[in-house]
Amino acid sequence: MEKITVKSFLKKKERKEKITMLTAYDYPTAKIISLTELDGILVGDSLAMVVLGLENTLKVGMKEMLHHLDAVVRAKPRQLIVADMPFLSYETGDAVKNAGLFAKHGADAVKLEGGEEFSDVVKKIVRAGIPVMGHIGLTPQRFLRLGGYRTIGKTESEEEQLLRDAKALEEAGVFSVVIENVYSSIAKRITESLSIPTICIGAGPYCDGQILVIHDLLGLSDFKPYFAKAYVDLKEIISKAISEYVREVKEGKFPSKEYYKEK
Ligand code: KIV
Ligand code: NA
Repeated sequence: MEKITVKSFLKKKERKEKITMLTAYDYPTAKIISLTELDGILVGDSLAMVVLGLENTLKVGMKEMLHHLDAVVRAKPRQLIVADMPFLSYETGDAVKNAGLFAKHGADAVKLEGGEEFSDVVKKIVRAGIPVMGHIGLTPQRFLRLGGYRTIGKTESEEEQLLRDAKALEEAGVFSVVIENVYSSIAKRITESLSIPTICIGAGPYCDGQILVIHDLLGLSDFKPYFAKAYVDLKEIISKAISEYVREVKEGKFPSKEYYKEK
């Protein structure tokens, strides 16, 4: 099957085919994904919590993101690879340079958090030839200002701001936009008002696509937000396998004949 590009995302919206994305942060996961029909991989800055055990996404930078992007790129997935621009990599003037670094390392696009306020930054990166995915609604890098992780769009003014953000991003040239933790009716309004695809997480079914953190889908997360569905309980499966291994070693059952050589 052929490589998925930002153009494929736009075509899917036109054809009303749902777009599916997941996060991935390492080679084996990207390898598994590459054999599926998933459309896109996000090397998300959720890396901080789900892989590195850090408290929030403010704690990872370009170095960590590049390290994990490299691992995903090595799997050569046909999926579109989007790299998350980490906190302070695009707000203070180095946006094009950092987006360019991601592109040089094999990302097909970058994602950054923010709407209207960041449309200038988006324009500059797009002008350099690097596709940008927007991210509006709950933007975890701004949790301090937002007053925590909450659903966005409760007030009329918040709802109207979300629409302005989406429009501003489309005009600035994003190829797609993530809508996170927003009331579904608002995500629906945004989806209908844009010609670029909306990719939702905790924003209901009326979007052009969905994204989940793969650790949530696999049942590997410590903290799972209300909108994340676990499709399997890998934590349970892994801990059972470990317990069985420990038991077999203690009982002298492992390694059995087929697992060692006798001279
Ligand atoms: O970092 C991440 O995993 C994300 C998704 C939740 C969209 O930004
Ligand atoms: Na992110």
